[in-house]
Amino acid sequence: MTQASALKQRDILVTSALPYANGPIHLGHLLEYIQTDIWVRYQKLRGQNCHYVCADDAHGTAIMLRAEREGITSEALIARINQEHQQDFSGFHIRFDNYYSTHSQENRTFSEYIYRQLQENGHIATRKITQSFDPEKNMFLADRFIKGTCPKCKTEDQYGDNCEACGATYTPAELISPRSAVSGATPIEKESEHYFFRLPEFSDFLKQWTRSGTLQPQVANKLAEWLDAGLQEWDISRDAPYFGFEIPDAPGKYFYVWLDAPIGYLASFKNLCDREGIDFDHFWNADSTAEVYHFIGKDIINFHALFWPAMLHSAGFRTPTAVYAHGFVTVNGKKMSKSRGTFIMARTYLDHLDPEYLRYYFAAKLTGSVDDMDLNLEDFALRVNADLVGKVVNIASRCAGFITKKFDGRLGSVTEAEKLAAFVSAGDEIAQFYETREFGRAMRRIMELADVANQYVNDEQPWVVAKEDGGEEKLQAICTNALNMFYLLMTYLAPVLPKTAEASEEFLRAALDWNNRNQRLENHEINRFKPLMSRVDMKQIETMLEASKDEMLAATGATPAKPGDSAPAHEPVAEEIEFGDFAKVDLRVAEIVKAEHVEGADKLLRLTLNIGEDQRNVFAGIKSAYSPEQLQGRLTVMVANLKPRKMKFGMSEGMVLAAGPGGKDIFILSPDSGATPGMRIM
Ligand code: 2FM
Ligand code: ZN
Repeated sequence: MTQASALKQRDILVTSALPYANGPIHLGHLLEYIQTDIWVRYQKLRGQNCHYVCADDAHGTAIMLRAEREGITSEALIARINQEHQQDFSGFHIRFDNYYSTHSQENRTFSEYIYRQLQENGHIATRKITQSFDPEKNMFLADRFIKGTCPKCKTEDQYGDNCEACGATYTPAELISPRSAVSGATPIEKESEHYFFRLPEFSDFLKQWTRSGTLQPQVANKLAEWLDAGLQEWDISRDAPYFGFEIPDAPGKYFYVWLDAPIGYLASFKNLCDREGIDFDHFWNADSTAEVYHFIGKDIINFHALFWPAMLHSAGFRTPTAVYAHGFVTVNGKKMSKSRGTFIMARTYLDHLDPEYLRYYFAAKLTGSVDDMDLNLEDFALRVNADLVGKVVNIASRCAGFITKKFDGRLGSVTEAEKLAAFVSAGDEIAQFYETREFGRAMRRIMELADVANQYVNDEQPWVVAKEDGGEEKLQAICTNALNMFYLLMTYLAPVLPKTAEASEEFLRAALDWNNRNQRLENHEINRFKPLMSRVDMKQIETMLEASKDEMLAATGATPAKPGDSAPAHEPVAEEIEFGDFAKVDLRVAEIVKAEHVEGADKLLRLTLNIGEDQRNVFAGIKSAYSPEQLQGRLTVMVANLKPRKMKFGMSEGMVLAAGPGGKDIFILSPDSGATPGMRIM
């Protein structure tokens, strides 16, 4: 009997958050899918009955407007994006049992059913509310579709709910000169009837639920704060035009995207159940003994730990066993940035690097908490090379050749039983780390074992034994011991490195079977060793960053600048542009930290600009009007998202704005003294 079959098999349903169907998957998303996939693969390798489902989150205004801009239907847009998302995920070996869409018949049925249940239970209220309305587009405007001047600090072009410059929060009605970000029209106020979910009625239920071990301690504490502050009713309706499901008996009213998004978990699972004959009710009945886990980012905790359990509870379904939140991804210690090329799309990464590198790096740094995760690209290369290539794969490559050449590919007998037993028993500890999502600790423990294996090979020196007369038996034993150690290491790494695990199975001609891991490979034939993984080269990473910058610029429509562009334009450009074209330009207040002459350049000065989050090197054709000393310490305005370009004298990473006819009369633009480096201008 195997170790697993002695225990009762667990029924587990796992989800990752449903990505919006309006843009590509990037590295920020991937942390979550990789984390969930590792956990799911681990459960499956342990023999649990585990299902992993996901879907595109296909509804809402943003998707509708994007389809409109592209001149296609929303349905066509979400079908295309669904394909792209699935390709990206499979590129990273994320293995869903079902990947669906919230724009599905199952989801419509469940959304209507749950809504009617809430209604019958008296948990839906209706009342009229007044909102901003775009009279040109004939649509209501969510706060983020309204822009205007901050009522507090007077910074222009701020979103309808908060000011990026001074941090003030307000209602769109308080904005000075508000305008619709969709059409540019001045919004009017308009009344309409809305449907609300009566969340406050679930206060006691949620106080108990959030404290019942369903949430990480940090998250439970945050929720306690919200619950103590008192809950608000939740507006679950939106007026037409809207891409989504119409609310039953409410013509022209649609379910808000966040109402049917989590219901998409049910819908995707139902779709899988119908296809594979799985018992849906066993997982979702109110008294279900199955386990349900949602992996999410920390920004959507309120939806998953307040609205969602309350809805499920009211509608007579079970609530999740646990909700696991993770933090955000930073790259090289900073927020992912388009201009630095660190806003990396899944596709761009895959064009340059092996997905298993990233899976391992994330695993090595993941804990069970909600802490943010920094992807430091140098550390990434060092760690992958040192651990995977230098330690794990190295064991096999040091020993396999002898077995092939000297023993016709046959292993002998294990002679280091005690050492191997320690490898086997470490599996229990590693299992516990996987189970509790302490992947970093699991990886460290595995690397400690890899160190032991390498030390063993170093001490036994098979390459010396190979030359000794009569050393055959010893040589075969050393290699057999080491390859059995490798076999166990790969068994433990299989949830993280599924492709290398497969290749190892092929090489060892044996299945990596965690629950039967005390079986040994003895007197057993193996295949010729082929390199299992190659080293990461920093050059590949640099090339990826460059490609990423280029793609960003291509996506935002900016054209590469020509040398000399930093000089002021003498010819006014008369062509009319759309507001959207203007909005693409990222204008920032910049402090001239340093200004210097450039050797060999008649017109240029080299400026070092501070824009808050980072410093830029820019060449500006303003030498005829300014001496470096006049500029140092001054504020100016720069285009921060201009594609960096190589000039004869170095890289220019942006452009400063100036006015005037030229010669002595060039005036760099200077914002008022209240401005600070990094402020956005429009
Ligand atoms: O934040 C987001 O990207 C959402 N699309 C996540 C939805 S998760 C679930 F509730 F559907
Ligand atoms: Zn402000």
